[in-house]
Amino acid sequence: MSASQPLRSHSDIVSVLRAAGCVFAEDEARLLIEQARTPGDLATMVSQRTAGLPLEHVLGWAQFCGLRVTVDPGVFVPRRRTEFLVHRAVALARQCNSQAGAALAQPCTVVDLCCGSGAAGAALAAALGRIELYSVDLDPAAVRCARSNLAAIGARVYEGDLYDPLPVTLHGRVDVLVANAPYVPTEAIGLMPAEARIHEPRIALDGGCDGLDILRRVIAAAPIWLAPGGHLLIETGQGQARQAAKIIIHHGLIPRTSHSDDLNATVIIGTKPADTG
Ligand SMILES: C[S@@+](CC[C@H](N)C(=O)[O-])C[C@H]1O[C@@H](n2cnc3c(N)ncnc32)[C@H](O)[C@@H]1O
Repeated sequence: MSASQPLRSHSDIVSVLRAAGCVFAEDEARLLIEQARTPGDLATMVSQRTAGLPLEHVLGWAQFCGLRVTVDPGVFVPRRRTEFLVHRAVALARQCNSQAGAALAQPCTVVDLCCGSGAAGAALAAALGRIELYSVDLDPAAVRCARSNLAAIGARVYEGDLYDPLPVTLHGRVDVLVANAPYVPTEAIGLMPAEARIHEPRIALDGGCDGLDILRRVIAAAPIWLAPGGHLLIETGQGQARQAAKIIIHHGLIPRTSHSDDLNATVIIGTKPADTG
């Protein structure tokens, strides 16, 4: 089929997507057809996709923890594996609340560092109901995107470097601190799929020499912000888990590692001892 011929059917589009190397061509074709408002729209979307733009950037949204999260061009696409970080955070936040006792339960105070589109915060709010959410990203495009995704839940979204823009009134008050920060070692970026390498910003991927540069800074300052008994949760590669746990111990937090084979996801938890002020 030539590019100038109109795309008439699902099977036409499947063929074009398949020829371009899209593995889930059937599903993608269905989503593109559902999303397009006009045949012209559909043709544009199919050609964007065959040119290598991530499906989520073509559609303008990603599915994450059952939510449809807006993902603007140039903003990191939330990954399925990060749903594991959210599930672990939800379980810990529920424990915090049940320990406080139903009558005393306050909305959980949650910080999402390196929030990207704001997907993790949105999913935590959807699962937990009332939360006080603070999200931060360095990239202005991500901050705009997160603000639009989180407006309905009244989250505060800040632009800046890690903890810098957060109000100091949060010191010692954060129940759950999540960070899916960049953790790809610089040299491994060249091995990533083209969709990520070309269409996602380097700042969203590059974790420095061993991939842990940003996470080291996240962990080092976490004890200042966590409430006694509060939890830091970070996503890492499986091979980085041991080193990340050592850094967590070095900063006085109690480490725990969780892994999901299904999602190929690793989360390191650092808990601030409950008897510290
Ligand atoms: C791997 S992406 C994850 C985004 C989001 N947490 C998610 O799971 O979809 C990492 C994000 O960290 C942001 N980032 C990188 N360095 C940062 C820094 N020093 N302070 C705040 N955000 C940073 C990037 O802009 C990017 O949005």
